[in-house]
This record gives sequence, C-alpha cells and structure tokens, in this order.
Amino acid sequence: MSIQQTSHIQALLARRERLLGPDTPLFYDRPLHLVRGEGVWLWDHEGRRYLDVYNNVPSVGHCHPDVVAALARQAGKLNVHTRYLDEVVLDYAEDLLRTFDPELTTVTFTCTGSEANDVALQMAQAVTGSTGIICTNATYHGNTAAVSQLASIFTPVGGYKAHIRRIPSPESYRVDAGLSGTALRDAYLDKVAEAIASLRREGLGVSAVLVCPIFANEGLPEVPAGFMEAAVKMVREAGGLFIADEVQSGFARTGDHMWGYRMTGTVPDIVTLGKPMGAGHPIGGVVARREHLVAYRKQFSYFNTFGGNPVSAAVGHEVLKVIQREGLLGNARDVGAYLREGLRRLAQRHDVIGDVRGSGLFVGVELVTDRRTRRPASQAARAVVNALRDRGILISRIGVHDNVLKLRPPLVFAREHADQLLAEMDSTLTGLQRVA
Ligand SMILES: Cc1ncc(COP(=O)(O)O)c(C=O)c1O
Repeated sequence: MSIQQTSHIQALLARRERLLGPDTPLFYDRPLHLVRGEGVWLWDHEGRRYLDVYNNVPSVGHCHPDVVAALARQAGKLNVHTRYLDEVVLDYAEDLLRTFDPELTTVTFTCTGSEANDVALQMAQAVTGSTGIICTNATYHGNTAAVSQLASIFTPVGGYKAHIRRIPSPESYRVDAGLSGTALRDAYLDKVAEAIASLRREGLGVSAVLVCPIFANEGLPEVPAGFMEAAVKMVREAGGLFIADEVQSGFARTGDHMWGYRMTGTVPDIVTLGKPMGAGHPIGGVVARREHLVAYRKQFSYFNTFGGNPVSAAVGHEVLKVIQREGLLGNARDVGAYLREGLRRLAQRHDVIGDVRGSGLFVGVELVTDRRTRRPASQAARAVVNALRDRGILISRIGVHDNVLKLRPPLVFAREHADQLLAEMDSTLTGLQRVA
C-alpha cells in the first residue's frame, strides 16, 4: 500500500473516530474501505477485488439485481408506516410462512435480529407467566437491554440478572473429562436440569430456552446427537418454550434445510429471523404459533413503525424468491461439502488445523497450537484472518477462544471460489509455519 493510500485510510479512521466516537468495531489490522460489491466480490477504494467468504447478510450475493429492482420499484411507489392495509407484506408473509412447519403460522416483522429476539422473549414470558430464560454461556443474540443480558462477550453492568441461566455451550472438540456420545449428551442435559431446578427454586419459573440451532456464535460445535430434542422436552415439561434464533442459521445457510432448527429434531414454538432476510436491508421477524402470538398481543399490544413496511416486505420477498429460484439451498449443501473436504485435505499438511466442521456454507476451522493438547491457537487465527485479507480473501473468526476461522460466504459461492480460498489458505498456513 502506498503512503498516499495509507494516509487515505488514516484520514477516514480519524474522521470516523471524531464523528462516531471511539471503539466502534472494525475488521482487520488494516481496515478496509469497501466501495462496491457484486455476487461474491467486493472492491476497495483502490479498485482491488476481494473474495467475500464472510458476509451472510447479502446471502443472495452483493447487490443482486432482482433485489435492487424490487427495492427501487416499491420505493418509487409507496412506503409508509405499518398501520395501513397492504398486500405487499401479506404476499411476503404467505410465501415466508410456507417454508416453516405447519404449526408456525404467524409472523411479526421487526427491523433487526435483536428486536426479534426481544419480542420472542416477551412473547414467551406473556405465554408462560414465567420470566426465567436459559441460554448458553458463549452466545450473542443481540443488543437490546433485555437481549444483551444473554451475551457472553461482555458482562452486563451489575452482572447477569437473576432470571438468566447460562448453560455450557455444547462442545464437540475440546470436551471435559473425555466424555463422548450419550455420556456427553447426558452431561449437558444435567446442566439444563440444574438451570430449570434453580429457576424454579427461586420462584421465577421457565419462560424459554433461547438458542441458535447450530450454535454459530459458540463456534459451530457438533452437537451431541439427541441433545436439543431432550433439552427442549425438559424445558417444555417445566412449562417453558423453545425459541430458535435463526438469525445466523436460517434462509438456507446450512445447506440441508431452509431452517437450522430442522437439524434439532424438534419444531420450535418461536423462531427469530434477521441478517440475510433483506440482503442488507434492515428487516427481521418473529415466527410463532398463533396461540402464542395472541397471548403476546393481549399483554403487549406490539407496534413497530418500520418493521415490515412495504419496501422492506418487497425486498424480503425478492430475497426469498431468489433463494428458491437460484437453488441456493442445494448450492450451499454441495459447495459447503466440497469446501470442507478441501479443508480436511489441507489439515493433512498443516498441523495447526485441529478440526473442520459446520454445515452448508457455514464452516468452522479450529486452529490449535498442538493437536494432542488441543490448545487454542488464537494468535494464529488472528494472523491467518489478516494475512488472507492482504491476499484478497475476507474471512473472520469465532468461538470461545476466538480461534475458529469463520467461513460464511454469500450463498452464491461456487466451487471455483472454494478452490481460490483453499489455495490462498494453503499458502497462508505455509507462511505461518515459517514464522513459527
Ligand atoms: C445469533 C444472532 N442473533 C441475533 C443477532 C442480532 O442481530 P442484529 O444485529 O440484527 O440485531 C445476531 C447478531 O450478530 C446473532 O448473531
């Protein structure tokens, strides 16, 4: 990068700090100034092209022409708040709900995933009359006052509130006491039982268990078989509901299913949606059984000025149609499997790769300093993310130790893109060995 270009970035950073304040998150040691996107590609201010292996929000590809056209068409016709009769939103709701199991018959539109989870928690409390919430100890479900109580990336001021119980996130790779199979599943179920008992003891009761069905923010562990089904059964027996947060796992990401919850063997009571729903346009949603929505509306009389306005609905509808028209579910399955196969081949040559996992086009590559002790290689993960950025490939990292490379490209990612990623990853890991 030339001195002139460095000063361009420095000037933007200083301006951002002055106008947006300190500590606003930015990716990469050398932050990027992106100016254009198309399909799986992004371009920076110098015209340099990057392969996007990170962004799940533009899941149908950056600036998909049909989505752009749908947005422009509706924006040029009508956009109002949500208290008028409107067919655009009903047409979308109808098609969206068709993709869920038959008992999930209503949708409430929001603007973000955080808001959707906030509504879902209130709904569960209205339905059950209880306040207790069970989540994992390595999660993130959003940033509202209520939902940020579940986050593990920071401790809420004053500590976690009394109605929150954080159970250990299922772990498949670095398991305590060498447990596996049903013994591992039962050890995690014991923690669910403890959480339920503790909420009951304190008179709070159980309103819901809220989890991402693929535990994405937790690092994409392989969940012990039968865990989710049994955990949900226990929660339901205690009077609580199952809320599936599909903000990350939904809209065909996992390849096998449109919705990640289908991998859990149980149909949720409430499903929350966000991120890819509008390909970057802010729209989220809460899908629920009718009786639960009725109980919620009696208690809260919910209204959202922007959630599900005609433009958002037109955009959401087009995104859904593109996913179906372009067969992106099948693409996520095929290319995801191809990518994982390639990564496992890389693991035969690079000891730093401890584990490759995930489903569809959501892949985790766990880096370790030593395969025997499985010590997390967090610094190596950081180095790989930054080195790939310099090679024109955008990825990120996740997990409790921030040592799991997070590969989650737009769903139009093809085998040729996977090949490019694998080649650059190979060179990057070889370079890493030389440094170590
Ligand atoms: C699983 C999950 N749920 C909810 C959210 C919050 O969504 P939003 O940022 O749209 O509020 C996130 C954001 O990262 C998420 O990962």
